[in-house]
This record gives sequence, C-alpha cells and structure tokens, in this order.
Amino acid sequence: MTHDVIPFVDLRAQYASIRDEVDAAMTAVLGRGDFILGQDVRLFEQEFAAYCGATHCLGVASGTDALRLALQACGIGRGDEVITTAHTFIATVLAIVEAGATPVLVDCDPTYGLIDVAQIEAAITPRTRAIMPVHLYGQPADMDPILQLAYTHGLRVIEDACQAHGATYKGRRCGSIGDIAAFSFYPGKNLGAYGDGGAVTTGCDELAGKVMLLRNYGQRVKYEHLEKGGNSRLDSLQAAVLRVKLRHLDAWNEGRRRAARAYDVALASTGLGLPQVAPWGTHVFHLYVVRTSQRSAAQQALDGAGAQHGIHYPIPVHRQAAMADLGYGPGAFPVAESLAPEILSLPMFPELTEAQVARVAAALGTVAHWG
Ligand SMILES: Cc1ncc(COP(=O)(O)O)c(C=O)c1O
Repeated sequence: MTHDVIPFVDLRAQYASIRDEVDAAMTAVLGRGDFILGQDVRLFEQEFAAYCGATHCLGVASGTDALRLALQACGIGRGDEVITTAHTFIATVLAIVEAGATPVLVDCDPTYGLIDVAQIEAAITPRTRAIMPVHLYGQPADMDPILQLAYTHGLRVIEDACQAHGATYKGRRCGSIGDIAAFSFYPGKNLGAYGDGGAVTTGCDELAGKVMLLRNYGQRVKYEHLEKGGNSRLDSLQAAVLRVKLRHLDAWNEGRRRAARAYDVALASTGLGLPQVAPWGTHVFHLYVVRTSQRSAAQQALDGAGAQHGIHYPIPVHRQAAMADLGYGPGAFPVAESLAPEILSLPMFPELTEAQVARVAAALGTVAHWG
C-alpha cells in the first residue's frame, strides 16, 4: 500500500492557510520599497516585544547572530567564559566562540534534556560572565535557580529561546526572563520566516541600545558610527511575513500541543521514552522527541510508513570535530552522550492530523523499544 508522505514539517500546508495575508503583506513591502529597517521591521519589533512581555525587540539576521549580538551587548568577549549546555544545537556554542568568549559546557538532565541546573555552580570561575540556558525543543529551562545563581555571582543570563517562541516559565514568556534573549526565525521554527531571521529581546534599555548599534554598522544616525558594529538586520520582507504569522502563533502552538497529546496517547504502550513536560512551564513542542534503544529499527519502520523523521542532535556539541579545541573527551557529559544515540524526532507541525499520528504510532508499535 502506498501512502502520502508525512512530512517532518509542513511549510506548504501552513502557507496555503495564510496565503492571502502573506501575499498582501509582501506586496505592500514591494510597493513601498522600504526593504531595510522599514515599517514592518519596526512594527514587528513592537509586536513581538509585546508578545514576549519584553520592553524591546531588535530584528537581526539569524538566531546565531541574535545570540552573538546579545553577548556582545553584554560586553562579553575575549577572556570571558559563558556557561551553556552540551545538549543543544551547535549554534548556541558557535555564537559564544564568534563573540570571542570561551564556552564552558555542563551536562543536561536525563528527564527533560535541559541544562542540568545542579551542575552550573561548579562550572563558575572568576572568568565566568554569563549563563546561557537553552529552552530546548520548545520547553523552558528551569530559570529561577539560574537567575538566583546569576544574581549571587554577578552574571548575565542570556536565554537561547531559538526553539521556544511562546513557551512560558511560571507564567512568563521565554524571552522576558533573563537579561536578554535570542530568537531564530529559521523557516521551520514555530515562528518562522521565509528565509533567515532572528531577534533579540530584552527589558534593559542599555542592552537594547547596544544591539541596535551593533546590528547596523554601529550607527544610530546614518554615517555617524559610535561603535564598530556590523551588518545583521532582519529584512523588511521577512518582518512582513513574521507579522502575519505572529497573529497565528498561539493557535499554531496549541495545534502542536494537541498533536503532542495525541502522540502521548497513541505511543503510551509502545515502550518508547516519551517527552516529559516540566511542572514549571508550558511546552510549545518545536520538536517531539522520543527515546529508544532501537533507533535504527524505529527509523526503518517510519521510512516504511512514509513518515519523515530527524535527530536533534546525533553528535553532542563537545564531540563535534569543530569543538575539539574545547578539550572535552568522551564521557565528559554522560547524559548528553547517552541521549544522542537514542533520540528520535517525529513529524511535528500544527496541522498534523490524528490519522497521521496514528500512522506514525502504528509504525513505531511494530518495534520492541525500551525507553
Ligand atoms: C537552540 C538553537 N540555538 C540557535 C539556533 C540558531 O538559529 P539560526 O539558525 O537562525 O542561526 C537554533 C536554530 O537553528 C537553535 O535551535
């Protein structure tokens, strides 16, 4: 029997549902011709700041740049250390390196895969300047103890919210909890552009002012350069798309949660390790990641059912060739290393149907797993 493919992410279905709004918004930008830092960038920044509960939002070129600019705005660079997690997308760590600072990794916890807060204090040295928790897969890290540690040791907290648009921690939206936060609008994100894009959010006027300069050649007034900034701006066309999509974000996140609940029920008796939602927050299921010792068999079963899948991420950051100079050997972060060979990301997007969930579950049910 042949099936339609179940995509990992269905951007075409999403576009079909908002085509008229998106086309009109993009046409308006083309008509105005204000392609760089135009009206839609300004309005998106206001709207996204309000959505996150932050005072400021600055649109930038990518999530990686958002993280780097957040670090640079905090004055973090050469000789400084930044603590983050070994279980993240490599861009978190690359941004620290790009800023000129040294990444110091700690392991993740085995239940949620989030930064293991209990390990942070031992990693603090006189050179530590910031903690960078990652709200991984759409779920907030446990921020209160992180904020407490930062307060005690005089450190900045920089949220990597690149996977967590709309997620909340104790009622507060990600992006409004630390000193400053970074978002990615890569197309597959919960809030995604039609190209690269990112944003920095903060409640601090001074940090916002720094990012505003750093993303635009260090100038506030054209040709008057106050800082050695670069070029990292969100395009007006992307901002126009993001303004349309922001209006749908809560409904889409609810669709993802609905799909996650359907997976939870359908997969309950398969023996797979299912994602756990921490009591401190709401999860927006950027990814639905299961755990199995029989990953290759599970992948084959999904292939047979025409269901796409992914691994986030197959090699922990500290075992990547590019990060060899950090000096972490095998066994440095046992939890992250035990997750990497067992995690499997299932199709996840707001329009995922009950029938598609059932097909994925039926395929996975043919494999004998242990979580
Ligand atoms: C956790 C995390 N950090 C950083 C990034 C970098 O964002 P971008 O791809 O927009 O540079 C991403 C997404 O790709 C991410 O998932």
